[in-house]
Amino acid sequence: MQTGAHDIRRRFAFMMWAAAVISTHVTVASAAQAVDGERGAAAAGPLPVASRRLRGDAGGTARSLQQASYNCPRPIVDMSKDRYQCVVWRRACIDQNVIVSYDPDVHPTTSMGTLPTLNVTDIMYNIPSKFGIGDRYRKGSALRFPPLYVRPSNDMEEEQELRNPTFSECTLPMLLYAHYPYNAAETYRYIFEKLVTLQEAGFFNRHVTLVPGVPPGTKVPSYTKFWYNSLSDRGVVSLSELSSRRPTDTPPNATWERTHVRCFERVVGCRIRYDGYGLRFYNAGQHVVRHYMPHYLSQAAAFEQRLYEVQKVRLPNDPSVLTLVFISRTPHQSAVGRTILNEADMIQRCNAAVPADLPPPEWGVPYKKYFCFAHVFGENQLMDVWLMRQVDGILGMHGAGLTNSLYMKPGGSVIEVRPFGFSGRESWANRYARFKTSSLRENPWGVFWYGIDTFNSSLSEPGAFELEDKPHYSKFRTIKARDRHVRLTWPSLRNHLLNLAAVARTFERYMPLRLSGAYYITDEVKQAEELGNDPHVDRKRQRRFTDPDEERRAVLQIPVSEKSLREAATSDRILAT
Ligand SMILES: *[C@@H]1O[C@H](CO)[C@@H](O)[C@H](O)[C@H]1NC(C)=O
Ligand SMILES: *[C@@H]1O[C@H](CO)[C@@H](O)[C@H](O)[C@H]1NC(C)=O
Ligand SMILES: *[C@@H]1O[C@H](CO)[C@@H](O)[C@H](O)[C@H]1NC(C)=O
Repeated sequence: MQTGAHDIRRRFAFMMWAAAVISTHVTVASAAQAVDGERGAAAAGPLPVASRRLRGDAGGTARSLQQASYNCPRPIVDMSKDRYQCVVWRRACIDQNVIVSYDPDVHPTTSMGTLPTLNVTDIMYNIPSKFGIGDRYRKGSALRFPPLYVRPSNDMEEEQELRNPTFSECTLPMLLYAHYPYNAAETYRYIFEKLVTLQEAGFFNRHVTLVPGVPPGTKVPSYTKFWYNSLSDRGVVSLSELSSRRPTDTPPNATWERTHVRCFERVVGCRIRYDGYGLRFYNAGQHVVRHYMPHYLSQAAAFEQRLYEVQKVRLPNDPSVLTLVFISRTPHQSAVGRTILNEADMIQRCNAAVPADLPPPEWGVPYKKYFCFAHVFGENQLMDVWLMRQVDGILGMHGAGLTNSLYMKPGGSVIEVRPFGFSGRESWANRYARFKTSSLRENPWGVFWYGIDTFNSSLSEPGAFELEDKPHYSKFRTIKARDRHVRLTWPSLRNHLLNLAAVARTFERYMPLRLSGAYYITDEVKQAEELGNDPHVDRKRQRRFTDPDEERRAVLQIPVSEKSLREAATSDRILAT
């Protein structure tokens, strides 16, 4: 037997490996205790660690003891499903945005292990301002998060709770950081969609407390709370609130204990990157719909009433009416920019459409007339979801409001309008609504995108910032162009109304319009995009249309989706049962 030296060398090599893993990724030491029976190489991420499952319990004897005293639904984070090198702090308190670790495996008084850190300093945000996102200010568009400070506990803790901590088994805060937390459209695509996909993949369950990353001391935006609430049965809360030295607005439902608990058996931290994972934007919207369906159905009468009071509108309960909602802007929003200046006129023309503007009976589509109306989105998100379930399409200027399109029933349409100087040719406009509704991961698409880019300069007027144009405003021409007001042309709106009618919620009918370019037009109903520039469909099959009527006639040869039409004609109240 000559194992001696050999074994020692092997053991030494293992220790070095383990130390390396601990120093880069932290969680190995705690993994042993946290493993919950699950093994195997399922972990797709770079962690060379056996798959493990974090629960709000300590394992072994401690677990059975704890179970005797607690009876809470267990928060679970399954680290084998982690895609973003999330870190885990075991036995940690949070105090005024600082993470204080008591974990003996990484505590300097008991171990040479390295305390995990989460690098958030490259996270950018736009300064939130009463004028909307701060990207109009040169220095307001790329502010950085401060580091997340993590330290070991010590004998000089100022707070009583931290001098003698009890670690909650039942509450597991998960810190979630991503770029641009104050932009709704970015929040949706950078992080919310990924969280839906991660939860569906089993990464975390509904009993985890979600803590969205915002700069210390600032609020979690209402849309973030609304979306995240669909993923967790605990309240959504900022780290500042959850870690504050006295409870302020902390939702009592953020912790399982329903009190201001600040010490936890586990805290998880993730920096979500915008990568190729997920990209199931329609799926995320439908997740929100499913979660809120009982809630918005129970308030339907109040929403109907409110719609009537504010807009004098009653939604037609009639499948022969093609319904289009305009994203309207409050006077305050309009003062800043991005208004459809002739919104009322366009709505009137839509509702008074003459036979030449309407789908003729020989088309064989369900629609005999149009109904257009205006609605201010973002004031009551539950109402917005309810509304989107009853329309065939949504029309609006480039902006986060178009995210509401993802709540629509399958086969709904979104018409995006861009002002002069901000077409898809000269800007990043196509990265948002068109991208989200055209994901290669969700083909056939649930929602169909149409565009109207303004190329006639006299149809646009400058927004507030372009008018003032102070030296500290953004130097980007396109940011000013984006916020211009626009006058929509009736021929372009009429053309897309006819497209929506001809397509009749049918993906197979939408695709030829997409490939021919007829889905994306200028104010003069010309092709808006250069040939071959649509990255979401086969470049070789992209065409240049000449006559939009001819394109519609061709589409009418394709059978309609009876399923989509039936679903659109059926109320959620019946679908839900
Ligand atoms: C954090 O990440 C950024 C960007 O990846 C990097 O430049 C920076 O050096 C990192 N900071 C630390 C402390 O690791
Ligand atoms: C938690 O409470 C807040 C109000 O404090 C509420 O808005 C939110 O919907 C609640 N969340 C859950 C999951 O009950
Ligand atoms: C541009 O729009 C203006 C205002 O509607 C119109 O009078 C003019 O004819 C348009 N120009 C072109 C080239 O279409």
